[in-house]
This record gives sequence, C-alpha cells and structure tokens, in this order.
Amino acid sequence: MSEHLLPDELVANLPKSVIIFGCGYIGTALAEVLLAAGVRVGALTRNVEKAARLRELGVHEVIVADLDSEAWHRQFSGAYESVVNCVSSAGGGIDGYRKSYLEGQRSILKWTKGRGIQSYLYTSSTSVYPQDGGVRVDETADTTDAPLTGQVLCESERLLADAADTFGAWYVLRLAGIYGPRRHYLLDLLRSGESVIPGVGDYFLNLIHRDDVVTAICTALSCHQSATSGIYNVSDDQPASKAELAAWLAEQLGQVSPRFDPEHVSPRLQRRGGRMPSRQISSAKLRKTFGWSPHYEDFRVGYRDLLGMEKV
Ligand SMILES: NC(=O)c1ccc[n+]([C@@H]2O[C@H](COP(=O)([O-])OP(=O)(O)OC[C@H]3O[C@@H](n4cnc5c(N)ncnc54)[C@H](OP(=O)(O)O)[C@@H]3O)[C@@H](O)[C@H]2O)c1
Repeated sequence: MSEHLLPDELVANLPKSVIIFGCGYIGTALAEVLLAAGVRVGALTRNVEKAARLRELGVHEVIVADLDSEAWHRQFSGAYESVVNCVSSAGGGIDGYRKSYLEGQRSILKWTKGRGIQSYLYTSSTSVYPQDGGVRVDETADTTDAPLTGQVLCESERLLADAADTFGAWYVLRLAGIYGPRRHYLLDLLRSGESVIPGVGDYFLNLIHRDDVVTAICTALSCHQSATSGIYNVSDDQPASKAELAAWLAEQLGQVSPRFDPEHVSPRLQRRGGRMPSRQISSAKLRKTFGWSPHYEDFRVGYRDLLGMEKV
C-alpha cells in the first residue's frame, strides 16, 4: 500500500482520530494510509488473525467482535472524531446482508450517540442501482427497484441519513467494482491459461482502484461541513465493456482474446439473469464537490500498474 497517497493539504485536514468498522480489503488499506498520516486509528474486526495484523500495523485500539452485536460498545476506550463503516456482507446471502450491513449500521449508530462524532462515512455500493440498457447513472437515479441485496444497502443508507443531526457531516459512498493488488479475478482467470470466460461480455463494468477508494474516503473525511453531507458515487467514470477489459488484459499477457460462453454462467450471474446490469456510473458529483479525481483514471492505468507490480 502506498503510504504517500494523500497530498499534504488533505493530510492537514484529516480528523485526528478515526474508528474503522470492518477491516477487510478497503478497511485495512485505509488504516495504513491514516496511520501514515499520523491519525489515531481504532478498528473493529471479527477476525483474530486480522486483529493481530492490524496491531502490527500500529492500529491503536483493536476490538475483535461481531459488529451487529452490542457487546463491543463498552470495549472501545478512546474517543474518535470520525467513523468509517466499511463492512461487507462477507457471504451468507440476504441474511448475511441484513446482519452485517443493516444490524451492523444500527449497532454503530447506537454506539455513536452522545459521543460528539464529527463525521460518519458509510461505504455502500453502486449495486443499489437497478438501471440497465447502458444509461448513465448519477446519485439522483431511482433505487426503488434495486435487487433485494441493494434494498438492504438502501435501508442501511437511510438509517444513517435519518441520524444526520447526530454528526457534523455524514457520507454514503456508493462504490463501483473494486480492483487492485491481489483483487483481479479476470486477470487471474486469464493468467491461469483460461481462454473461455463464463457469461457474456457485452455489458459495462464500472470500476474503481482500491487506492482511489481510500483517497475518496479521506477526501470526504477531511470535510466536516454538513453542507457536503450526502450520497456520492465512487467510480473511475470510464466504464468499459467486460469484453473490452478481457481483450485488453489478454493482449497485455500475450494471449489470444478470450471467448465468452453464455451457456456457462456462474451461480451469482445466474441469479441475475446471466449478466450484471449494464449502466455507466457517474462520479461527477464527487469530483465537483471535493475536487477529487482518481489516480488510476481508467482500467488500463490501473491494470498496467498491477501487471508491473505483480510480475506475470
Ligand atoms: N468489493 C467490491 O467490489 C465492492 C463494490 C461495491 C461496494 N463495496 C463495499 O465496499 C466496502 C468494503 O469492501 P471490501 O472489498 O473491503 O470488503 P471485504 O474485503 O469483504 O471486507 C469487509 C470486512 O467486513 C467484515 N465484516 C463483515 N461482517 C461483519 C460483522 N458482522 N462484524 C464485523 N466485521 C464484519 C469482514 O470480516 P471477516 O473478514 O471476518 O469476514 C471483512 O473483513 C463494503 O462496504 C462493500 O460493501 C465493495
């Protein structure tokens, strides 16, 4: 993880202390960057090995607990200026979504009462958008027909919005598909010599590099004014079809362009009618409000970096 992701002006405006709930791919990367910026970091994880790793990294206070319980409420001793909730469902179907996203959010919000938290940031997902047909989607898009899992996320978002008065500022970041070091499924598939990709390739992928998620979170956290509170999409704003990404990756690896096989669809895609919805997620609001822009401006820049880092 690059420790020099943040410009000095941004570091100067970061909260002095941040507590991170859910220390997976994004939560751990965020903790590293905040620690490097001199921020006091607390973390909750339900995983003992992750807790040990977080302590090694220098996280000041680490609690091992299930977020959706309230057993952890009395365990944190430090006061924190900002909260970041970036748990994922981590499997378990719709019940897992309710447990981690909804009950988790409820539990944190209860814990924050009376603690003078300045800002609260929640990482949601662009999967709340049901739109299809290649349309451009911004934060005003209707989410009424979101898939079941997306509805749980919307409900968790609303819990936070309803508690808005409790915080100086609140943010929901709807993240596009995250890729980055050790997280590049399509690249792994092609590297394994596979030339047939299950499903179809003619739909838009909306992507964001892990490090750009971290800078987007830090950018929002550095702004404590209620005027900027609200929902923001986080994507590189350069959607490309899955076929385009696969063909480009194959070319980088010196392989022939892969073929898509619509007959073989993963169970996840099967549940969604064979492919993900095709739409182009706009992050114009985030760029305009905060002046944020992704370092990895499209998949080519991001994957070129990964191919250089992780030798083929
Ligand atoms: N990955 C994507 O492409 C994507 C796209 C859009 C939005 N997002 C959102 O971005 C955020 C970060 O994603 P990520 O990729 O960093 O997820 P991740 O790697 O799966 O990490 C999420 C962490 O949440 C923890 N967690 C889940 N339920 C918990 C509970 N009940 N109590 C305590 N911890 C719990 C998991 O712990 P364990 O390790 O113990 O399971 C895991 O470490 C999530 O909010 C996710 O919904 C992700």
